Amino acid sequence: MQRQPVRPFRSRDWFADPARSDMTALYLERFMNYGLTPAELRSGRPIIGIAQTGSDLSPCNRIHLDLARRVRDGIRDAGGIAMEFPVHPIFENCRRPTAALDRNLAYLGLVETLYGYPIDAVVLTTGCDKTTPSGIMAASTVDIPAIVLSGGPMLDGWHDGELVGSGTVIWRSRRKLAAGEIDEEEFLQRATDSAPSAGHCNTMGTASTMNAVAEALGLSLPGCAAIPAPYRERGQYAYETGRRIVEMAYEDLRPSNILTRESFLNAIRVVTAIGGSSNAQPHIHAMAKHAGIEIAASDWSEFGYDLPLLVDVQPAGRFLGERFHRAGGVPAVMTELLGAGKLDGACATVTGRTVAENIQGRGATDREVIRAFDTPLKEQAGFLVLTGNLFDVAIMKTSVISPAFRERYLERTGMENVFEARAIVFEGSDDYHHRINDPALDIDENCILVIRGAGPIGWPGSAEVVNMQPPDHLIQRGILALPTLGDGRQSGTSDSPSILNASPESAVGGGLSWLHTGDVIRIDLAAGRCDALVDEAEIARRRGEPAPPIPASNTPWEELYREKTGQLSEGGVLDFAVKYRGIAARTPRH
Ligand code: FES
Ligand code: MG
Repeated sequence: MQRQPVRPFRSRDWFADPARSDMTALYLERFMNYGLTPAELRSGRPIIGIAQTGSDLSPCNRIHLDLARRVRDGIRDAGGIAMEFPVHPIFENCRRPTAALDRNLAYLGLVETLYGYPIDAVVLTTGCDKTTPSGIMAASTVDIPAIVLSGGPMLDGWHDGELVGSGTVIWRSRRKLAAGEIDEEEFLQRATDSAPSAGHCNTMGTASTMNAVAEALGLSLPGCAAIPAPYRERGQYAYETGRRIVEMAYEDLRPSNILTRESFLNAIRVVTAIGGSSNAQPHIHAMAKHAGIEIAASDWSEFGYDLPLLVDVQPAGRFLGERFHRAGGVPAVMTELLGAGKLDGACATVTGRTVAENIQGRGATDREVIRAFDTPLKEQAGFLVLTGNLFDVAIMKTSVISPAFRERYLERTGMENVFEARAIVFEGSDDYHHRINDPALDIDENCILVIRGAGPIGWPGSAEVVNMQPPDHLIQRGILALPTLGDGRQSGTSDSPSILNASPESAVGGGLSWLHTGDVIRIDLAAGRCDALVDEAEIARRRGEPAPPIPASNTPWEELYREKTGQLSEGGVLDFAVKYRGIAARTPRH
């Protein structure tokens, strides 16, 4: 007897609707032109989508073009029918004016595909930064069974016997270039050496962070996130993921059965323990919003800040993806958190088992890379959430703050964690690059570099530009980092001590819009405050001045994005879109 799904497959409505056999013929016939048979499509087996994010334009995810074969094998062996389709490309490093525009665009496209075609369940192929949240956001909106398959990081990069990690090597080499220690050729060679194979960034940048988040949320097979792209296990996980999604289709195990406030809090905790990217903040808020779950900025302080850094991977630590995987990857980190009572082990996952059941017996195998909870690399390593007269919410990634920086800025005032700095304000990154070495700015170690016009509306899309390096003359004197502040984001691979994602942004009248070069900014980390020492009357006067300029929209999507997108503190989602949830319950009309 044929297996019956818990809920009839939605594809039946296309391929087996007795009331509309005329339409059925139309729906079926063109799939025949590559060899599928009507019998297969009408057999009652689930149609499993493979949302393909890999392409020549998405090199970080290109491994999925190969992995999809193993996914298909798994789907077939488990009794499903695979249908692979393309997702709008997202390539973090190359897309101008910023890949942040693409997260919501890929989301929209994927929602329409999953909703409008006869797809019963989907494998979300993920890798490069935004490919993970966009897929998960869409899966929540549609709410069909969905499983994440990470493409995995590249192999570890080596240069002159030294580990060189994605992105991080760029920021560090830039400083060496400015200090005159290397030339441009050496710079390019270091960058090339950091990318030795297929895969996404091998540091704990946004890509590895978001794949770890997907696993922490219970959306991938345990251990999936960290397997390097070329490893044999990657292909094996692709196969098992294909098998499992067919079961999930029969079980009708959907994102709404898995994602809860507790699972998102687990993800926040994991981000701290791995030293994860500051981009996790907007992406986690965005995914939660689309899942209909309330996550507040204060949850990062309450549940994420006071946790230790356990993973010794760049940019917060020393190693790269291969060592992290061999040390046990995300399950080992979750094991530490669970053992310390800092994880909810009862959360549901795609395996049909709980988080605690999934990670049973998967503790760390290399204590150099994944520390025990009681002997961490750093205490209190989470994001600090700040507020003040310059913004309502901004975050600071404390795990990357170097001892030298701490000493210079946080201890010299005699008041622990309080410092004041003179603001140097830039209108976006072109202005920064043109003027950073201008002697007229008189930048010294008492300055804070501020960038505005870099948020969702201003840029548009919110750019990774806040990790600004000091002027060359300071770097040559050994001052490798100044505090920075901005309404944009920073690369997850950066080790810069920055105050990021300031919301509301300057372009919508946030406090950065009235800040002047020369104003003194006071930062009190213990109180979670960041204020310009400018009195109310002066602020009111400045608010009457013309707003800082922002560039015109250059594409239709830029215009629409600006009209519909919210601030980073709220995830930068398309505000109107979050009310659409579980839309697959309503089958689209013929
Ligand atoms: Fe694509 Fe880092 S640039 S993963
Ligand atoms: Mg990035």
